[in-house]
This record gives sequence, structure tokens and C-alpha cells, in this order.
Amino acid sequence: MRPLPHDHLIEPHGGELVDLLVDQSRAAELKEASRDWPSWDLTDRQVCDLELLTNGAFSPLRGFLSRSDYESVRDDMRLADGTLWPMPVTLDVSAEFAGSVSEGDAIALRDAEGVMLAVLHVDDIFEPDKEREAEAVFGTADPHHPGVGYLLNHAGPVNLGGRVEALTLPVHYDFRTLRRTPTELRAEFARAGFRKVVAFQTRNPMHRAHVELILRAAKEHEANVLVHPVVGMTKPGDVDHYTRVRCYQAVMDRYPRNTAALALLNLAMRMGGPREAVWHAIIRKNHGCTHFIVGRDHAGPGADGGGQPFYGPYDAQELLQKYEGELGVTMVPFRMLVYVEDLDEYMPEDEVPAATRPLSISGTELRDRLATGREIPEWFTYPEVAKELRRSYPPRHQQGYTVFFTGLSGSGKSTIANALLSKLLEIGGRRVTLLAGDLVRKHLSSELGFSREHRDLNISRIGYVASEITKNGGIAICAPIAPYDTTRKAIRKMVEAAGGFMLVFVDTPLEVCEERDRKGLYAKARAGIIKEFTGISDPYEVPDDADHVVDTTDESPEEAAQEILLHLERQGYLAPPSGV
Ligand code: ADX
Ligand code: MG
Repeated sequence: MRPLPHDHLIEPHGGELVDLLVDQSRAAELKEASRDWPSWDLTDRQVCDLELLTNGAFSPLRGFLSRSDYESVRDDMRLADGTLWPMPVTLDVSAEFAGSVSEGDAIALRDAEGVMLAVLHVDDIFEPDKEREAEAVFGTADPHHPGVGYLLNHAGPVNLGGRVEALTLPVHYDFRTLRRTPTELRAEFARAGFRKVVAFQTRNPMHRAHVELILRAAKEHEANVLVHPVVGMTKPGDVDHYTRVRCYQAVMDRYPRNTAALALLNLAMRMGGPREAVWHAIIRKNHGCTHFIVGRDHAGPGADGGGQPFYGPYDAQELLQKYEGELGVTMVPFRMLVYVEDLDEYMPEDEVPAATRPLSISGTELRDRLATGREIPEWFTYPEVAKELRRSYPPRHQQGYTVFFTGLSGSGKSTIANALLSKLLEIGGRRVTLLAGDLVRKHLSSELGFSREHRDLNISRIGYVASEITKNGGIAICAPIAPYDTTRKAIRKMVEAAGGFMLVFVDTPLEVCEERDRKGLYAKARAGIIKEFTGISDPYEVPDDADHVVDTTDESPEEAAQEILLHLERQGYLAPPSGV
């Protein structure tokens, strides 16, 4: 048969693609049969993996790795049949679920809403040696490595291997027009006449260095460009993908017209450095790309406990270089690109002329500049990108925060909290909610008592509400007793993910609280009428992580509130005087 010109065009874009989607009648049949099958609720990562298995991004995989493939991938970076494949794509489950399944069974794979996405024909049930996997795949068993931490602390103990039949692709409601399957992208490249396509992988906002890399790669290889950012799961702490995609969209017209495409990849990254780079190249080949950019510290996992990087900056390039021939993908390597002010130009760090001063801004410094509202120079990022980042990461004085008081009953928490509330309202411009102990007990926790379990529940509810208020840019002032250290720390973690958190320990000695006994509670506690009373018949764990300690025996509530305001101002949370 004479190949269609269309086929001829697609040909350079890689081999055959796997497509695990079944037709409608098979889907109906599987759904019907699934009534008697066990169901597994997929984790976020598994949903990502399943999507890329289904649409052929993980070609030639047709399911989750069986034991022999898994061991071969782990030890030799190849499937059992010898095909290069660097990353275990496994379905980890709990021991309990594994116990309910036998080899030969089919199970329904469901998303968080219970929608059945696929069927797994289980042909293998095995317990991975996780430490060995970590060492072989990531080169370390240190849980500071995000991929290792996930494997050791998060993934279930048993893997189910087998072929997948998919009923539907997971649905995304965000940026739908930018989500393309490998088949769709190959067809688009063919239609647009893109013969050579260089792919750029990223999990960060696009700054000028990235655009420079891409433009250089395109010129050097006379190739079109696919900007192919990961929007599945990236490194914890990364800029959220909504913000990033707006940044990518904003810079698309920095490329010559009709030469570059943008598509989103719902990959769950493992931050596996060298092996991950090889994986990325295979995935991009499946999406019709012929070239793949690998720069400095590709898919780098950050530093270990001692602050040392896990991989050398160019380890990923070295490993991919060994396999690019076999893969049929041309790696486009780059040394670290830096900005040379004297020449107003980006260049590889090893080409920077002596006596000139290369500039760069780290991710940490960028965050700091955003948080403090300082300038973000145009040589570093385009104004349209800076604008998007500022929208998502406003300066601290526009961010929400929580002031969390802890201390014994009658220590003066509420009084100081009220004084602080008044002062914040006097300053104005912000929305403030006071979650005082008694109010919370009335509105959120009226059914709860004072057992450890109930106290923890009460405090967790306060923490949750405070984190929501903080996330939405408000100020929450909480004033419960919060006697337990682990609970307080859990709340700090939850709130800090959303904005600022300040723990204030109101350190009034028990004798003083008891002597004041404003509500007569201590007397009742001593008489045994009130049980489990903090300080009398229940513990109070003194915080070791207070951001501020108030000693009410020599500070008035007024002074204490003032001290807290000063602390917030030092941290940048108070608005600068109006007009600035
Ligand atoms: S990654 O985890 O996806 O690799 P990032 O989005 O930071 O992180 O990088 C995307 C790609 O750009 C990688 O290939 C990386 O090596 C490369 N890269 C990023 N910044 C630079 C730079 N200043 N110089 C050279 N390469 C870079
Ligand atoms: Mg990086």
C-alpha cells in the first residue's frame, strides 16, 4: 500500500502508539462485569500514570509493570523484553486490598469521585523491595529525595501488575484546549508541517532563560518548538500549575509566529534526575517530538538532609546521551544559561567572558522578591510573567495570616486577642475574624467535650477554618487553650501552606490563672466537678516553637497586642503607610 503523504509526515515522529481506550460496547461489557469486581480508588499519582498509559504517552507500556518487568526496569532500565524503560510505573496498593485480590482477577480502577476509569487484569501481585528500588532508580534511599520519600512513606506495600483496558480518559476542566494526547499532537504537527520538533520540559514559570534556551535550540536544529510543561504532579512547593500555565500562555508570542506550540502534560514527576530525563525523552518522542532539551539539573530533586545535591548538574545529560541513538531522540544539551549584563545577553556559563559579571536569580530569591514586593528585573523575567506571578503571589502585606494564641484557661488569651483585633481594625484595609475559644465551642464544636480526642477535634476545626481564611487573604485570630504540641504543629503546617502563621504563647503561670479564676472554673476543677481541666487534671504542653511569648505578669494586654503588631510588621504582614 502506498503510504499517504500524511503518514509519511508522521513517520519521523516515532513508532507506533499504544491506545488503551476500548470501544463503547466493550466499555459497557466491562462496566456490567465490574459489579462483582473489587474496586481500587486511584491515588492522585496513579490517576496521572493511568492517563499517560491510556493515551499512549507511556508507549510501549500497556499496563502497570508486572514483577519481571519491574525488576528489569529497576536493575537494567529495560523492560523484560529489552525495551529501554527507565522508570517503574507500578500500581501500589494497601496490604489489605492486595489480600482481597488474586492473580487472574480483574479490578475496577476508579478516580476520587468513584468514576470507573479502567480495568486492571491482575496477572501479578508482588511486594517490592522499596529500599532497593530507591537505590537503583534514584541512587539514594534518603527520604529527602521527593521520589524516595513518596516511595518509602506514601506508596502502598504491594504492587499489582497487569494489562489495562481503559473506559475513559480522566476529565480535566482546566485549560482543556491545551491538553493534547500523543495522537492529537502528532496529527497537529503533521498538519502544521512541523517535521522536526524540539520539546521543552518544565515545571517552573517561564523566565527569559527558558525562552532563550528554546530559541537557541530551535535555531541550532532548525526545528519547531513544543513547550510541554508538566501539570500533573511536580516537586512539592512548586508554583501551582494554574499560575504557570498563564505564564506560558503569556510568553507564547515571544516565539516567531506559527513556529511554536504549547501543550500540557499530565505527568506525575518523580524528580528522578538522570533516569527521569530518559523517561521524559521517551514521553516526548511518543508525542511526536524529534529533539529534547536537557539543561542544568534536569528534573532535579533538590538537596539531601545535609544540603548536598543528589545528582551532579549534568548527570541527566550524560545518561540520556548514552541512549539517544537507541531512542531516536536527539538531545539538545545546555550548560547553565546566565545573564551577562555588560553584553545584555544570555549565555552558557562556561562561555561567559572573563571580567564580566553573570547574573541569575534563584527560585528562592524570586519568592522572596515577590513576598516583599521588591522589583523583579526585566532581564530575568518578562513583565507579563512577573504580572501573573504577582497576581498569584502577592506581597506579604496582601497575604492572609493567622495569629494563634495558646495558653492556660484564664491566661489572658482572649483579652489580648480582642486588643489585637481592635488595633487591626483601627489600621483597616483587612478582614479579620476572631475565632475565640468560647465562640468556637458554641458555633463549631457545641457537641464536643474535653477529652483529648475532642480537644484535638476542636483545635483541628479551628485550624482548618483559620487556614481557609488565611488562604483567602483574611486574618484569623485564634484563642483556644490548644494544650497539645503535636496538634498545634499540625495546624501551623496547614496554615503555613496558605499564608502566614504566628504562634503566641500566653505564658501566665498556673498559680496566677487560678488565683484570678475569672470564670470560677479552677475552683470547680479542684473540687472535681469539672474533669480533665487543663493545668489541674489534664496536661498543658509548653510550646517550643512560639513566635512570641507574652508574660502577662509584667505586660498589659495593650502592650502584648502592640508587641504582636510589631512582630507582624517586621515580618512584612502589615500594609505600608498608605500612599506607598
Ligand atoms: S525540571 O524539573 O522540569 O527539569 P525546570 O522547569 O527548572 O525543572 O527546567 C526545565 C528544563 O530547563 C530542564 O531541562 C532544565 O535543565 C533546563 N533549565 C532551566 N533553567 C536553566 C538554565 N538557567 N540554564 C540551563 N538550563 C536550564
Ligand atoms: Mg531546575
